[in-house]
Amino acid sequence: MQKLNWGMIGGGEGSQIGPAHRLGALADGHFSLAAGALDVDAEKGRAYGQTLGMAPDRAYGNWQDMLEGERARDDRIDLVTVATPNSTHFEITKAFLAAGFNVLCEKPMTMTVEEAEEIVRVAQSTGKICAVNYCYSAYPMVREMRHMVASGEIGKVRLVVANFSHGHHGDATDADNPRVRWRYDPAMAGVSGQFADCGIHALHMASFVAGDEVETLSADFASTIPSRTLEDDAMINFRMSGGTVGRLWTSSVAIGRQHGFDIQVFGETGGLRWASEQPNQVLYTPVGGRTQIMEKGEAGLSGAASSLSRVAIAHPEGFPLAVANIYVDLAAAIRGETRDALPTAPDGLRSIAAIYAAVASAKDNGAWTDARPPMYRT
Ligand code: NAI
Repeated sequence: MQKLNWGMIGGGEGSQIGPAHRLGALADGHFSLAAGALDVDAEKGRAYGQTLGMAPDRAYGNWQDMLEGERARDDRIDLVTVATPNSTHFEITKAFLAAGFNVLCEKPMTMTVEEAEEIVRVAQSTGKICAVNYCYSAYPMVREMRHMVASGEIGKVRLVVANFSHGHHGDATDADNPRVRWRYDPAMAGVSGQFADCGIHALHMASFVAGDEVETLSADFASTIPSRTLEDDAMINFRMSGGTVGRLWTSSVAIGRQHGFDIQVFGETGGLRWASEQPNQVLYTPVGGRTQIMEKGEAGLSGAASSLSRVAIAHPEGFPLAVANIYVDLAAAIRGETRDALPTAPDGLRSIAAIYAAVASAKDNGAWTDARPPMYRT
């Protein structure tokens, strides 16, 4: 099968998420790295692109040149990943979709609900794929949980409890460090700090596994380090359209938690638990029965999980290969297959609507607030 041409914007040398995209996109042989505008510094971006093997005329200095250069080529890229800072996602994603490219956009997809609705409309009208990198949903055992819930193995879901809490911004003496400070400054980060950064991964996961959408929510935000304008801790209660009750805690001051992203799903006939620090396992408890450890790679798992695992049982596969699973789905979708687990623009839109609902609710003493995007309310 012919490889697909892949391009990247952002994710330059030293960036946090760039290497995970490169490891992920190139892991399974579906894509080759053909083009990029990798850095806000044009010269650095061109040089690093060539170090990664791009032809000099496809290692661009900025995304606008990349758009013009690629749209004119017969061997134009089949997919572009947008891994730049949040405030640039909308402009870049919209421009590439409108020019007929498939896009994988980092989260959060946009800064406002209006922008997110616009991305959904542009993707619909061009027929191009706009995926959003909710990569934790692509761990094999998360896909297994989703499959078990959808096949009725724990009955109707009553309750979902999700957390995404870490302690890496919990040191008040480091709060003025520029790499930390911008995240809690509305001028740089937008309307929300920790919830927009980490909480939306957990909220997406709750919908993804439960197979249900968030309808209303009530939020309590706190800036536990007083110099911060935006929240560094949040508790969200939510209700889903199918009646599922949801609880979500997200924090960046939970000292001692490293990557405390976990989810529990409680149904009428059983419960499931998954944690990102032990991603190979799901704990499953049937009602009245013993807790069982289900392991990635064991016999009897669904195709949804086993098809996304490459290494033997009990060997860690890890975060970059969860990202790779997003690219596996993308390659299949670009080649015309249906991949309903791939997070796409409507998921990105629902997250932005939930951020704005949570901000409004927190300002109104936790008032229950409609969390659905306006375009999905009718
Ligand atoms: P970073 O600050 O480490 O790197 C950003 C990169 O983008 C740098 O190489 C910078 O030079 C480049 N850049 C900035 N403006 C650019 C422009 N206009 N054109 C081309 N390149 C540009 O940021 P980080 O942490 O890698 O985050 C990037 C995005 O990825 C954010 O939206 C963040 O929310 C998301 N992210 C997602 C994660 C996930 O789990 N899905 C995890 C970490 C980050």
